Amino acid sequence: MTEWWKRAIIYHIYPRSFMDASGDGIGDLQGIRQRLDYLQWLGIDAIWISPVYPSPMADFGYDVTDHCDIDPMFGSVADMDDLIAEAHRHSIKVILDFVPNHTSNEHPWFLESKSSRDNPKRDWYYWKDPKPDGSPPNNWLSRFDGKSAWKWDESTGQYYLHTFLEEQPDLNWRNPEVKEAMLDILRFWFRRGVDGFRVDVSYRVMKDAGFADNPVNPDWKPGMDPSFRVTEQNTKNTADIHLFNRWIRETADEFEDKVTIGEMNLSLPQLARHYGSPERPEFHLPFNFRLIFSAWEARNVGALITEFEATVPEHGWPNWVLSNHDQPRFATRAGREQARNGYLFLLTVRGTPTIYYGDELGMQSVPVPQDKVQDPWELLSPGLGLGRDPVRTPMRWDAGPNAGFCPAGIEPWLPVGDDASSLNVETAKADPASMLSMVKTLIRLRREHEVLISGSCTVLSSTGDVLQYRRGEPGSDSTMLVLLNFSPDEKSADLPADFHGSAEILLSTEMDGAHALRDSSVVLRPNEGLLLRRKR
Ligand code: GLC
Repeated sequence: MTEWWKRAIIYHIYPRSFMDASGDGIGDLQGIRQRLDYLQWLGIDAIWISPVYPSPMADFGYDVTDHCDIDPMFGSVADMDDLIAEAHRHSIKVILDFVPNHTSNEHPWFLESKSSRDNPKRDWYYWKDPKPDGSPPNNWLSRFDGKSAWKWDESTGQYYLHTFLEEQPDLNWRNPEVKEAMLDILRFWFRRGVDGFRVDVSYRVMKDAGFADNPVNPDWKPGMDPSFRVTEQNTKNTADIHLFNRWIRETADEFEDKVTIGEMNLSLPQLARHYGSPERPEFHLPFNFRLIFSAWEARNVGALITEFEATVPEHGWPNWVLSNHDQPRFATRAGREQARNGYLFLLTVRGTPTIYYGDELGMQSVPVPQDKVQDPWELLSPGLGLGRDPVRTPMRWDAGPNAGFCPAGIEPWLPVGDDASSLNVETAKADPASMLSMVKTLIRLRREHEVLISGSCTVLSSTGDVLQYRRGEPGSDSTMLVLLNFSPDEKSADLPADFHGSAEILLSTEMDGAHALRDSSVVLRPNEGLLLRRKR
């Protein structure tokens, strides 16, 4: 198994919040460059950077006006070239974010498209006539406010489609010129040395060609995400999404060793189809968000491992994600006590892990006061808990002012959080029992023990509050066990026969030597996780 992205640990950077080198309270490319030593020390292999292209920032960079440039807020193309070169010198690959579903409404393409009905770029976006009563062409809803996804344009007398904000008009990928122009953007960055792309909402790019209404969602109730009033049957994961996937993959395959990661929130059997076939491959890694959207419980996590192992096609490779820039942090969803177990899981289960910046410290979502809210989702659908600011707060580097993210006296774009003086890189580095020390140790063990990368993965038990899974073949010298106690109580777990009398603890999430290994069982402390191997 030689593909780098199968062996790699990916680290997701939200660039506004990682490190501010320019002193304006917002992170930037120079800032990321300054922190490469930290990333190398931690042991990660690749960084994925959320969008840094020129943007009016209506959706903080997911509204792009020029895909082949860098927003001055983040730096310049020269800074990106420099970051890529420096990252590579640190043995770190660089993955950028590609936003294919929409552009900014200030993108020159959209300005042209909007200028008249017969503009050559009119068909680059979805323009439709109103229904006879003047209402929008169908019932599709915008993700951010649950209102119509169609915006009326007075000057040309038609509606345009926007799946997200009205500042984010959807591109028409069925137009071959759009397809070519967009794929050329991938080539532009690949030639500059970028190692791969995470493809934003890839599964929404192809909509039903007949623009049929979405069925009403019978399960929707007031208080739920307003955009779920109708299902998304005709607006996501449609049959011909696989065409799009293949265009992306074929373009990546024009170059050597590139990775493509698709963003989609799907069940595991649905996800499996986004790998394509060996003859017609699609995404290398269709993101697996199941642990973001389901309960952190022994039975559920065990069932997900078994289901993923059964559904990932033979030519495919699993991947797991615990947090990202859109959903509450793992240590908030599962609770701080379970944060370490989450990362023991992420770094020992089979598949490529993606670590969200700051999660390695055990950072939780940070409450953001109403008058500091930035995220359009919270502003448009207030009070439903959809706002994403709390998961995008600055990285904490030290116990000093602004946690070392930006200079003293400058207000960071989001608060650093009350616990930043105790929970930060500098403090955690000095503590051999910190979560950061645990994550670093796990990354090292993963490198030292091939079985943690390429060994098989089998759930042995997931009843009660303890999940136990095995890496590698029973009875082999290299096989390992992972045990996670999901409860706040002490739990005892039986070990499989090949570990009787020969189990040895490689790592406890408590990062200490105290443990109760018996001949054929082990006692787990409250919320403890263990990595065991067989004594040599
Ligand atoms: C994806 C991004 C999210 C963004 C949306 C629209 O879900 O992760 O941050 O707002 O797409 O581009």
